Amino acid sequence: HQLMAESLHIINGFAREYFSKTLLESEEGQNVGVSYFEERGFTQDTIRKFQLGYCLNEKDAFVKAALAKGYNLEYLQKTGLVTIRNEQPVDNYRGRVIFPIHNQSGKIIGFGARILVKSDRAPKYINSPESEIYVKSKVLYGTYFARHAIDKLNECLLVEGYTDVISLHQAGIENVVASSGTSLTQDQLRLIKKYTNNLTILYDGDNAGVKAALRGLDLAIEEGLNVKLVLIPDKEDPDSYVQKLGAPAFREFIEENKQDFVLFKLQLSMKEAGNDSVRKSQLVNDIAETISKIDKVEDFTKQQDYIRQCSQFLKIDEQGLINLVNKFIRERL
Ligand code: GTP
Ligand code: MN
Ligand code: MN
Ligand code: MN
Ligand code: MN
Repeated sequence: HQLMAESLHIINGFAREYFSKTLLESEEGQNVGVSYFEERGFTQDTIRKFQLGYCLNEKDAFVKAALAKGYNLEYLQKTGLVTIRNEQPVDNYRGRVIFPIHNQSGKIIGFGARILVKSDRAPKYINSPESEIYVKSKVLYGTYFARHAIDKLNECLLVEGYTDVISLHQAGIENVVASSGTSLTQDQLRLIKKYTNNLTILYDGDNAGVKAALRGLDLAIEEGLNVKLVLIPDKEDPDSYVQKLGAPAFREFIEENKQDFVLFKLQLSMKEAGNDSVRKSQLVNDIAETISKIDKVEDFTKQQDYIRQCSQFLKIDEQGLINLVNKFIRERL
């Protein structure tokens, strides 16, 4: 097992270097790959720091090089770098730019491979499959580059995509990781918790991402995280918006638009419930359950604060909400 994991790390390391070289040293890499990154506003330093790459638009240039190096075809398939078509091994990321995914010690555990021009016929990103070394539910993209900044600033910013992480770094905002477009898992929240208790989610407002994050809210509360939310304006994401505003204005935007995620959830459900009394009492229950998950021993004042603010919002009796919260706590004992 250890041997298998080690082999996959080595193959991914080789691929990372091969794709970097292809990007920086081949004509197609320069003309197609580097041009693409430049159009997106990524600098040479950024390309090097994140070890971005390019896979030639040829059937099997990479797999040939890997096999010539003596790497095992079965392992090459396991990494997702290579597939078999018509009984021939072919490169899976042909003509795509490459985003290597690092683990906490900087080893390559997978890749995101982006198509250059959006198409109906092919997915925008092809991501590595799960493997012995890449367990998606335990990984947040960018942790390797962000951990010191998260620790130092005592805050972790969470975005959706690879390019959001990269653009924010380029703007000097380094305490940022990406969920890669999926809902947060308990393991990912625990990973954040290793560095900080303060999580700030930067998602676009129109987006399914916020709904997904809301589903993870109770989990985050249980882990003892303070969760804030910043809604990025419509049609933008942190990458496009930081490039549009510039770093100082973007930072200001974040600071001015940070809102408490529990209160955000409450406001959103109130809007959705309208005058429907059944839905209203359901949302009181929901919010009481969320508040009940705050660890009373560690965060007693935080729980009290939420009870006070939520009862004001809902225009309900504070003691009534306290009783409801306590009911949820008792039910779990
Ligand atoms: P750009 O379009 O390059 O700026 O990427 P983005 O990060 O803004 O993409 P988007 O907001 O659409 O999606 C967020 C994240 O979800 C991406 O960074 C990927 O990790 C993932 N994702 C997006 N599209 C796909 C896809 O077609 N397939 C898979 N498997 N993942 C995707
Ligand atoms: Mn940051
Ligand atoms: Mn989006
Ligand atoms: Mn984007
Ligand atoms: Mn996006």
